[in-house]
Parts: sequence; structure tokens; C-alpha cells
Amino acid sequence: MIIKQKIKKTDYKSVKPIFDSSKKRVYIETYGCQMNVNDSELVLSILQDNNYSLTRNIEEADLILINTCSIRENAEQRIWGRLDVFRLAKNKKPELKIGIIGCMAERLKEQLIEREKIVDLVAGPDAYRSLPGLLRNVEAGQKDINVLLSREETYADISPVRIDENGVSAFVSIMRGCNNVCSYCVVPYTRGAERSRNPETVLNEVQTLVENGYREITLLGQNVDSYFWKDETNPEKDVNFAQLLEMVALVNPAMRVRFATSHPKDINNGVLYAMAMYQNICNCIHLPVQSGSTRILELMNRKYTREHYLERIAKIREIIPDCSITTDIIAGFCTETDFDHEQTLSLMNEVGYDFAYMFKYSERPNTKASRQLKDDIADEIKTKRLNEIIKLQNRLSLESNRRDIGKIFDVLIDGFSKRSTEDFSGRTSQNKTVVFPKENYNIGDLANVRITGCTSATLIGEIVDEKHHETITELKNIIDETIHIVENKIKNTIKDKIRK
Ligand code: SAH
Ligand code: SF4
Ligand code: F3S
Repeated sequence: MIIKQKIKKTDYKSVKPIFDSSKKRVYIETYGCQMNVNDSELVLSILQDNNYSLTRNIEEADLILINTCSIRENAEQRIWGRLDVFRLAKNKKPELKIGIIGCMAERLKEQLIEREKIVDLVAGPDAYRSLPGLLRNVEAGQKDINVLLSREETYADISPVRIDENGVSAFVSIMRGCNNVCSYCVVPYTRGAERSRNPETVLNEVQTLVENGYREITLLGQNVDSYFWKDETNPEKDVNFAQLLEMVALVNPAMRVRFATSHPKDINNGVLYAMAMYQNICNCIHLPVQSGSTRILELMNRKYTREHYLERIAKIREIIPDCSITTDIIAGFCTETDFDHEQTLSLMNEVGYDFAYMFKYSERPNTKASRQLKDDIADEIKTKRLNEIIKLQNRLSLESNRRDIGKIFDVLIDGFSKRSTEDFSGRTSQNKTVVFPKENYNIGDLANVRITGCTSATLIGEIVDEKHHETITELKNIIDETIHIVENKIKNTIKDKIRK
């Protein structure tokens, strides 16, 4: 059963940053995943409530916070490089305070302060509520650190301040931490155990974003499919991910809904049915495969086989035929043979991914793989395999984009194209980027765009003419209404499926 959609009028404050030179100024730099981007927004919210305001200019800053990532060695190396730059800023302005927050703070703890003298403050991902207290000590001339992980903290009541002011799309965290121990991965150690956020606070946040003119949200978690809210008073009110997705989609039909990341062992048909049922849930699934070899998947402790993964793909294609599928791939994991690598290439071909993030395996200290397996693939071989994976993906992305030529898509305009302010850039429901001449549209509008060309990374298009546009809109309204009626009729049957 779905919780009745009672969304309280929000008491959330503005989602916009404050720029006020009479207050202390914080400069925030963010590395890593979308969760870190959203955490920086939480941190700014906490700091704004404690008399700080944002600056985008290092020279104006009284405090620099670096929200860090530990996922691969080169992610950490970049941060050490940035600290060299901030050292110069601190030499010029000795009263400047520097704080390291996020995953690297959690992983290295006091070592950061010991190794790097300019660091005044270290705070892990579950310690952000203590930042005002830590900062008071830092301002009094001490160094301070809090890296305690929590089993409960979800920052559910804190309304993130949107640092990137595009005003169109926003992240909404629905859970924190991770309970999967993929053998290569540092995240369970830097972010702690998995916990889900109270769904009511998720809906409140989405409603606030609607009221602030946002048009798209992305629900975030390391493994959204294992979202589960246990209602202590009434088991009828427990909420799983498919149900949460449905509740969020119902907040406002004009709000696009995305989510990341799905896990192949947990994504269930209920999620797929919810996606098929609501036109505002975008047709795009990021389903990291990591490897096409069942033997390697087992060593990675991913808890699925190649066959299971391909069965999930077939189900997605069956229930949501126009869904795009994207992935993450690791090249050169411990013991990977040429045959295993070929399996990855053949799986990529079989799925025909629309897009992929591709990495060389990077051993992370204290993970299961670092303790139990040898990082035995030579760097040249990792590079060679990664290059083959990238080359294949470029071809698959180009093929996928070519299939879109001639089609018309609803495109949410989220900014200017990188090349020209005469062109807009936006995204289709499938999360593909389209660039097209502006005409008389604005950022935040939904435009009907016909695809006329492409590269492997971008679709190129043109807005279909107003008249055509109006006819399409009218037709769409009629179709939407019909779908709505049919939806209501079949909802009860489908809800049973979602509950499974
Ligand atoms: N929770 C998500 C992703 C987390 S990290 C998931 O389970 O898919 C994002 C991606 O970084 C992973 O999917 C993986 O492909 C990559 N990654 C993680 N640890 C890595 C490592 N040690 N070396 C190389 N790539 C890694
Ligand atoms: Fe890391 Fe695996 Fe958790 Fe993703 S699911 S964050 S890869 S441990
Ligand atoms: Fe990096 Fe932490 Fe995200 S390690 S990828 S910032 S969860």
C-alpha cells in the first residue's frame, strides 16, 4: 500500500546560497560523486545557519572546505595537489582556515593534520552537524577533528542550499552509507553502514524544490534498490524503493525524477513497473556491471553473475523499451585474464550501453581485495584493456546516438551549450545531452527537439516549430489524460507487484 500523499507545507528556508560580505566567507570545493556534491550543499546549509556565507572566490575566503573523494588513488592525488595551491593562499593570508571533509577525511583521519600542516579541520561524512563546534575551536587557534560514523544520521531535517544555481535540477539524498562489501571499494569504510531517510522528509524536500521552480530531481544512494524505511508504528507504512519512487513521482507530474545508483543484484521488477507507469520518471538506468566475467564478479563480491545481469537487462528492455542503460566498468581487476576481459567486451556489445564510466582498477588500502588478492595486472595491460573498453564504448555510444536521428524528444533545457551562447543544452528522458539553437525558449523550459545529427557524446537538434509543437502538446495532453485514466484502473494490480 502506498502512504497517502500528505505533504506538509514546508518550513524549509531558501534553497539559494547567501552572498554577504559582512559575514564570514566559506569557499567550498567538491570532488567525487553526486553524493559529495549534495553533501557540500548540506554543509553550506549548516554553515549559513551559523553566520557564514558563500564565496566563489578563494581570495575572499575566511574558510576553505575541500569535500574529498577516495575512490581511486588518483582522486586522492588530485586533492594533495590542490592543497599545494591552498598553501600559497594561506601564506598570503595566515588567518585563513582550511578544512578537509568527505571520504578522504574519513579514510585518513588525523594523518591529514599530521602530514599537512595547513589543515586546521577534518570532518567525516557523518560529522557535519558538528562543524559549527569544530569551527569555534579552529577559530580559537586549535586544530579539530570529528570522523565518527553513525548508524542513524541521514541529515533528514536539513534543507540543502543549492550551490550550483542552475535552478533546474537538484540532487536529493534518500539514503547514506553502503552495506555491500564489493572487494575493491572503499565506500563502506568512508561512509559507514547503510541507512534510509524518512520518506516524508524526502517528499518535503521535493515539494520545496517544486516551489522553487526546479524541474528535475535525482534521488541519490549508493544502492537505491535497497532503500527501505521501516515504520515503527505500522508495518503497512513501510516503504521500499519502488514505492518511494512512485510517491516522489506523484509530488508533481511536471517534476522529472531520476535516480542513481541501481545495483544489478537488487533492482527488481517493481522499480521497472513504477518507471513504466509514470511518464515523469525518466527512462534511464545506471546499472554498473564492473565486469562481464562471472569469475571476476565473484572475486569482486558483486553477488550476481553475468547471466543474472543479462536477465535484468532483458527485463528492462521488455518493461521499458525506450530506456537507456549506462554502466561503470573496471579494467584489470586482480587475476583478470584476456578471456575475462573479452567477456567484458562481449557483454558490452550484447547490452549496447548508451554510456559508460570506465576505470583502471586502483587498489585501495584496507579493502577486502587489498587484503586478500594480489593487484597482479601490470599497469600497461590495465591501460591497454581500458583503451579497448573505451574504444568499444565510443562506438556503442555513437551507434546509440545515430539511432536517435530523426526522432523527437522532450528536452529539459538546463544551460547554454559549451560552444555558443546562441545554443542551449538540455537532456532527454534517457539522459542524453542535446544541443540546439535557442529560439525563444528559456533555461528550465521543456522543448520538443528533433534530432538532426550527433557525435558519440552529444545529440544535435532543432526545436520543432511552434505549430507542430502545439499540436504535439495537445496530442500529448489527450494521451496523458487517457494514460491517467488507464493508470488509475490498473494501479491496484500493479501496486501488488511493486510490494513484492
Ligand atoms: N555504489 C555504486 C558506485 C560507487 S563508486 C555502485 O555500486 O555501482 C563508482 C564507481 O567507481 C564504481 O561503480 C566502480 O566502477 C568504480 N570504482 C570503485 N572502486 C574502484 C577501484 N578501487 N578502482 C577502480 N574503480 C573503482
Ligand atoms: Fe562500493 Fe559496492 Fe557499495 Fe557501490 S555497492 S558503493 S561499489 S561497496
Ligand atoms: Fe568518492 Fe566517497 Fe563518492 S569515495 S565516489 S566521494 S562516496
